[in-house]
Amino acid sequence: MRRARRAITDQPIEKATLEQILQAAHLAPSCANNQPWRFVVVDENPALAQVKEHLAGGNYWAKMSPAIIAVASKADLDCQIPDGREYHLFGCGLASMNLMLQATELGLIAHPIAGFKQAPIKELLDIPARFTLITLIVLGHPSDDHTALSEKHQIDETSPRLRRPLPEVAGWNTAPQIFGEEGSGRA
Ligand SMILES: Cc1cc2nc3c(=O)[nH]c(=O)nc-3n(C[C@H](O)[C@H](O)[C@H](O)COP(=O)(O)O)c2cc1C
Repeated sequence: MRRARRAITDQPIEKATLEQILQAAHLAPSCANNQPWRFVVVDENPALAQVKEHLAGGNYWAKMSPAIIAVASKADLDCQIPDGREYHLFGCGLASMNLMLQATELGLIAHPIAGFKQAPIKELLDIPARFTLITLIVLGHPSDDHTALSEKHQIDETSPRLRRPLPEVAGWNTAPQIFGEEGSGRA
């Protein structure tokens, strides 16, 4: 089962495995088959070590990772529908989930993070300014040793999955209650 686990080892991940993971990501559906995702696999030093310098403090655990995949896109790579819908982030989300599920299937941890400094990592990875670096997906083999994790992260590692009750986010037919204060008005 996919989980955003943090206990990983620094054991390298084979190129063939990383390619298999990328292929799964690339098979995601996208608006008009635009494939708005761009992936940069970082699995060699010095780039890997340099990327890790720009992680948020709470992502200390990701420093063990032997491979991090950067996911980038920009709006004009995908459908932009004049009523306000822009699909590039959605497409990258679908591809990222495919990527994580394939990695999980192969016995790896694949943990997406937003806790990083975007500008220096884009520069390091030659990602052009107009692209958004949406997420870094931290990969690693699972570790049984949780002692390097903070107390909270040790608990999170094996905790049940926490989610709001389903009726707070999903309704049937008309469901204004799931939209909070805005739910009583008509769009
Ligand atoms: C866009 C995004 C950003 C996230 N950023 C971080 C992060 O910076 N650090 C972290 O430890 N986890 C991060 N996570 C993981 C979430 O905290 C995790 O998915 C959530 O708590 C649910 O846990 P689960 O994935 O194990 O079900 C992120 C997840 C997503 C989708």
